[in-house]
Order: sequence, then C-alpha cells, then structure tokens
Amino acid sequence: MKENLRERYRYFLKDSVRLTIDFSRTDQHRGVPPPPLEKPPAQDQQRIDLAKKDKWENIGQIDLKAAIESRSSHRHFKDDPLTLGELSFLLWATQGIKKRIDDGTAYRTVPSAGCRHALETYLCVLNISGLEKGMYRYLPLEHQLLFLYSDEHLSGKIVTAALGQPMVGKAPVTFIWTAIPYRMEWRYDIAAHKVILLDAGHVCQNLYLACSAIGAGTCAVAAYHQELMDQLLQVDGEEEFAIYLAPLGKI
Ligand SMILES: Cc1cc2nc3c(=O)[nH]c(=O)nc-3n(C[C@H](O)[C@H](O)[C@H](O)COP(=O)(O)O)c2cc1C
Repeated sequence: MKENLRERYRYFLKDSVRLTIDFSRTDQHRGVPPPPLEKPPAQDQQRIDLAKKDKWENIGQIDLKAAIESRSSHRHFKDDPLTLGELSFLLWATQGIKKRIDDGTAYRTVPSAGCRHALETYLCVLNISGLEKGMYRYLPLEHQLLFLYSDEHLSGKIVTAALGQPMVGKAPVTFIWTAIPYRMEWRYDIAAHKVILLDAGHVCQNLYLACSAIGAGTCAVAAYHQELMDQLLQVDGEEEFAIYLAPLGKI
C-alpha cells in the first residue's frame, strides 16, 4: 500500500500526465473565458497604495552576484520594522506586474507556466511602519494592499498554524502564498498542479534575493497546518488554499 502511494506521488513529479490529457477539451479550448488575473477584491475593502518603482530611493541596490552568494535561510530577525517602501519592493519582486496583455494575461517579475500565475500573496503584518498589524492581500494589478482584518492574537495564531515554528510570530511580515488552481487548470487541466508548485519556487527565490538587497532575510516554510492556515487567510480550502510561506525581517 505504502509503495503504491509512493509511486503515485512520484508520478505527480513527472510530466507523464500530459500525454493523458485531451487538450481540445480544456476550458480554454472550449472557449470558457479566462479566470481573473487576481482574486477580485470586494468593493468595501480598504486599499493601501504602495509606492511604485520610480519612487524607491536606494532600495534594492545590490550586486546580483553578491545577492545570490549571500542568500541563505534566516529564522531570527531584528526588532526593527520594515518600511512600506521596502515591502512594496518585495511584493514587486515576487509578483509585480510588468505588462498587462489582456484580461487573462499579464507578464510579471517571475515566470509562470503558460503565464497563468495561479498564486495570491497574503501578508501577516506584525511590524511594518505605517501599517496597522493585521492580515492583508497584495493586489498586483493595482500595486496596492488590501486590508483584510486585524486580530490582537494574530502572532500566536500564525505560529500555531505554522506548527509551532516561532519565527513566524516574530517576523515583521510573513508572506503566505495561496494557489487558485483553476487559473492553471483552465489551460492545463490535471497537468496544472505540478507547475503551480514550480511557480511558487521561483516566487520564493525572488523573495530571498530581494531580501538580500534590503538587509533582510527570509526562510521558506512548507510545513504548516493546512486547515488552520486556510482559516487564518479566510480562504475556502478548495478553490483557494495556502501552499507556501516565508517570514522575513531585518538581519
Ligand atoms: C520547499 C522548502 C520548504 C522549507 N520548509 C521549511 C520549514 O518548514 N521550516 C524551516 O525552518 N525551514 C524550511 N526550509 C528551509 C530549509 O531548511 C533551508 O533552505 C535548508 O536548510 C538550506 O539552508 P539555506 O536555505 O540557508 O541554504 C524550507 C526550504 C524549502 C526550499
């Protein structure tokens, strides 16, 4: 039984599934309109503008070779807050939109299979100057933050949802990426799921490098309690669910 399971999970890592798919029957080929590029915000949700690229002064100036060489995982951070400008830079580096092509396609700072970009970015904010503590979501199209809610026990709750890893309760901000699988399934059907995870890897690597450029550090985290993390993000756990997180702060 266990061997069987292992085979199935190994199959997931391969691209054999592609040859089993009738691509003429995917939603894209049947003419179903593409899903939205970002999860649409509700009208009454508060938005916060983020500084655009031309307004970042002295943020992100580092030699690429040095950034790659100095990259490593950090689990302890200074108590210093991050600025909103630095956060803006990190969000741009991980999911920023460079060019919108049409309602279903936009090029971002990271690659994505079929340019489908099936991820959303949530932020558990505990210490960013000028931002109330709370849960936020990034709106890449507008380069804005969406305020979701505040909770005085947020720090403790995210530690519990991250299976007791204390760094997420101390980090000024934790990036939490969710997947909206349909955005990828619309084109790739059951070949969507492996590439969503490949995409997430690029996003997190950009976060590591961007952190190096602002004197910050981060640590990829894939160990968490699925249901508790989804509850914390207020997502349904079916059409959207957490897949990866990264606490970060000054080092
Ligand atoms: C996919 C992935 C999942 C990880 N999950 C965790 C985690 O849950 N907790 C943790 O402390 N570190 C986690 N790490 C960090 C690794 O432990 C770390 O990358 C590894 O020890 C190598 O260290 P370095 O990143 O400093 O080179 C994860 C890294 C990756 C890439």
